[in-house]
Amino acid sequence: MKLTLAPPVVVAFAFAAASANCLPAQQPFFSNSQPDLPNGLGTSHSIFSSLTSSLSSLFAPRLVQTASDEDPYWTTELGKHFLLYRGKKFMDITDHQELGSLSSTRTFSAPSFPKEVKYKKELKPAFDEISDKGPRKHLESFTAFRTRYYKSETGRQSQKWLLKTVQDIASEKKEITVKEFPHSWGQNTVILHVPGRNKTLTESRGVTILGAHQDSTNFFPFLAAPGSDDDGSGTVTIIEALRVLLKSGWQPESDVEWHWYSAEEGGLLGSQEVAASYEQANTKVYAMLQQDMTAFVKAGTEEVVGIVGDFVDASLAEFVTLLVKAYLDIPPVETKIGYAASDHASWSKIGAPSAFAIEATYQNSNLQRIHTSSDRFDIPEYSFPHLLQFVRLSTAFAVELGGWA
Ligand SMILES: *[C@@H]1O[C@H](CO)[C@@H](O)[C@H](O)[C@H]1NC(C)=O
Repeated sequence: MKLTLAPPVVVAFAFAAASANCLPAQQPFFSNSQPDLPNGLGTSHSIFSSLTSSLSSLFAPRLVQTASDEDPYWTTELGKHFLLYRGKKFMDITDHQELGSLSSTRTFSAPSFPKEVKYKKELKPAFDEISDKGPRKHLESFTAFRTRYYKSETGRQSQKWLLKTVQDIASEKKEITVKEFPHSWGQNTVILHVPGRNKTLTESRGVTILGAHQDSTNFFPFLAAPGSDDDGSGTVTIIEALRVLLKSGWQPESDVEWHWYSAEEGGLLGSQEVAASYEQANTKVYAMLQQDMTAFVKAGTEEVVGIVGDFVDASLAEFVTLLVKAYLDIPPVETKIGYAASDHASWSKIGAPSAFAIEATYQNSNLQRIHTSSDRFDIPEYSFPHLLQFVRLSTAFAVELGGWA
């Protein structure tokens, strides 16, 4: 990941700002490229409070793991930001060192996924309903929060916005529940639960999960982080899938859930807490699909769907490939990203089959802009038609695995 600022410059600045106990009057890092911030967001007050709170926690010790075959090691919050800066994937396991330790005691047998699709007829009207209107409108609001950093005040506000948006979409369906999964840092994970009509089937199959992460970050938390692609795109992709399915009168046979995780950028913190709670409750998971970055098409490249092939469940990845071939206008291409690339890794850790679909091969993804203030959706390479292909994928995933009652 390439950033425009060298870390020593920012570190020096951070300490200068802290020791002066105020922000320099003309600090270009804080100039906001988004003029229309609603509700007074992005005021110097919220910048100041997020700056001071993030500075005070920079030296908190954290246990991180950067590869499955390497021992975890102790670093600090600051150390995590340097991992982000270097583009190094990591899992912060400080609070969940035991994650996955119960899964070996489980008796769940490995699930098998369909070898062919069977809901083309039912999915047609849902696909016809897909539009970029909702995703555009949602991204405008969601990226207007100066940052959705998980420990910031605006990150809390963006989560409340997300909660209300999702509640509004599901408001007419009494059987659907939307809840906040609370986290100590304040930005909660949002979970929407669609109960299946057949309880017996849910018990034998388990729950199907669509996931994306709602938080954004700059490599230093007090810098602006619109996160339009990472992962505003995945967030609105699964919102639109939910909208078109409910509009089409869908009810699943077995349970399906939508998860918008908090604190993915902090080292998969939110999804680890959610996965730990499912592990403890012995809640069976049929399949989990993470979508983190769905909108960027690099100039001069062919549009594809990247199917992540490492640290995922191979049979589920194969099933996602089948869905892409059956339902999308663009081809699947296998790609590798590395350990702890996104929230699906928390589910793999408890033995739940998980997969990850991304906008391109890893090399052709939006690596120049993510974690910077220029991860915006008003750039030429940000493609809503591309994003809508992932809405199709999400819709098909929910229906082909959860069924249509
Ligand atoms: C519910 O699912 C079970 C297990 O697949 C099946 O045997 C049963 O017929 C289903 N019930 C209904 C009402 O579809």
